[in-house]
Amino acid sequence: MMLTILFWTFAILIFSFALVEVIFRIIRRFIHFPIPAFVIRFIDNPVRRRIQSPVKVVDWMGIRGGMCVLEIGPGLGTFTIEASKRVGESGKVFAIDIQLSVILKLSSRLLRAKIVNVMATVASAYELPFSNDTFDRAFMIAVLGEISDKKKALLEIKRVLRDDGLLAIGEILLDPDYPRRRTVIEWCREAGFDLVDGYGGALHYLLTFKKQPSGSARADSMQTLS
Ligand SMILES: C[S@@+](CC[C@H](N)C(=O)[O-])C[C@H]1O[C@@H](n2cnc3c(N)ncnc32)[C@H](O)[C@@H]1O
Repeated sequence: MMLTILFWTFAILIFSFALVEVIFRIIRRFIHFPIPAFVIRFIDNPVRRRIQSPVKVVDWMGIRGGMCVLEIGPGLGTFTIEASKRVGESGKVFAIDIQLSVILKLSSRLLRAKIVNVMATVASAYELPFSNDTFDRAFMIAVLGEISDKKKALLEIKRVLRDDGLLAIGEILLDPDYPRRRTVIEWCREAGFDLVDGYGGALHYLLTFKKQPSGSARADSMQTLS
């Protein structure tokens, strides 16, 4: 009897979760908006960290001491803090988010953790407040699917990324905005990025890209369009 109750409780929970997920995916296919700050608090949790380990994800980006790194859409800093450890005292992480409430929460977390090499600022991925060729690495985790004009954001990232820099895009299956790898590769290719590497498994992935060499036919046509 007890086993039957447990089985049905578990089955109903799984079914409800799947239903909510499907409904969210359908809505978000048509309407893109940033996830509210109070929801972001729930995605920074131990289960997610186990599935999508910040240590591993940041390892894959090849961030080294002294680098200048841009993170777009840091949320509460799940990956920001790990990146800040890698760049060390001589490096900097610039974390920009479109929501003031997110930046305020992240800033107080950084303050509490006494992290001083992260600059958290309100800005949009469409208009990055940085000069051309500034960053060694730029990354977005569970963000690109939320952005309605992906090409505009990616072209802006391309502008601020150094020619030898890397763009890293990570996604997790549980995110209602989750795009497939091949979709992300196509979005990036259209904005003038070539795939370098892919990591991860069935539940999450990280893709790294480099700028297409200027002078290549595709890179030139992107330049003309932008
Ligand atoms: C799903 S959360 C991911 C947070 C964090 N990267 C993580 O994986 O835990 C997406 C974040 O992207 C931000 N965001 C959405 N659209 C943006 C835009 N156009 N420019 C900058 N940030 C944006 C949201 O405010 C939110 O903090």
